[in-house]
Amino acid sequence: MRIGVLASGRGSNLQALIEVWKQGMLGADIVAVGSDREDALALQRAQDVGVLNQAFPLRNYGTRGEQEGAILSWLREQGVELLVLAGFMRVLSKEFLQACQIPVINIHPSLLPAFQGLHAQRQAVEYGVKLSGCTVHYVDEGLDSGPIILQEAVAVLPDDTEASLSDRILEVEHRIYPEAVKLVATGRVSRQGRVVEILD
Ligand code: GAR
Repeated sequence: MRIGVLASGRGSNLQALIEVWKQGMLGADIVAVGSDREDALALQRAQDVGVLNQAFPLRNYGTRGEQEGAILSWLREQGVELLVLAGFMRVLSKEFLQACQIPVINIHPSLLPAFQGLHAQRQAVEYGVKLSGCTVHYVDEGLDSGPIILQEAVAVLPDDTEASLSDRILEVEHRIYPEAVKLVATGRVSRQGRVVEILD
């Protein structure tokens, strides 16, 4: 399966996917990495391993709709069959999701449906929960609301800050995102409504 990745920032989750892919363990090929930011380190990470990469900064387009249209055409040109969001900090529009007709998955640094949106780790620390974690889910038209593929809990320690909790959650993200991509890419998930079952 041909995978496209969209990322806005440092791309450590992209790097985790690249490493598993390079070991021949991803069950899929990363063929394209796009970003809404020209300065995203994620683009350099793709470049370093010879993966096609392109920035789609909003100022090059009249509207968000045109920006999304350009991203979608580009993904189609590359024959992308699964779209993986890895720290892509834009909410994809309903129009994009309806038009793209391939599965889109995302990773979020909380145990959804808790702490949707920005700064999920800060929200967890401020709320005082004892457990947080990360979630890989299909993207639907809501904010961090699609069917859940994998989740793993991370304890919130009494002296945790946003930064320290983020670091520990990120380690888990780097393990479960490649695992989830592999499950989806190799057809080992089935969806019944919003419930996702992992097949043996
Ligand atoms: C990750 O923690 C990811 O879960 C989060 O952004 C970070 C990206 O890091 N995504 C979201 O909050 C999406 N709502 P990375 O660029 O190093 O992979």
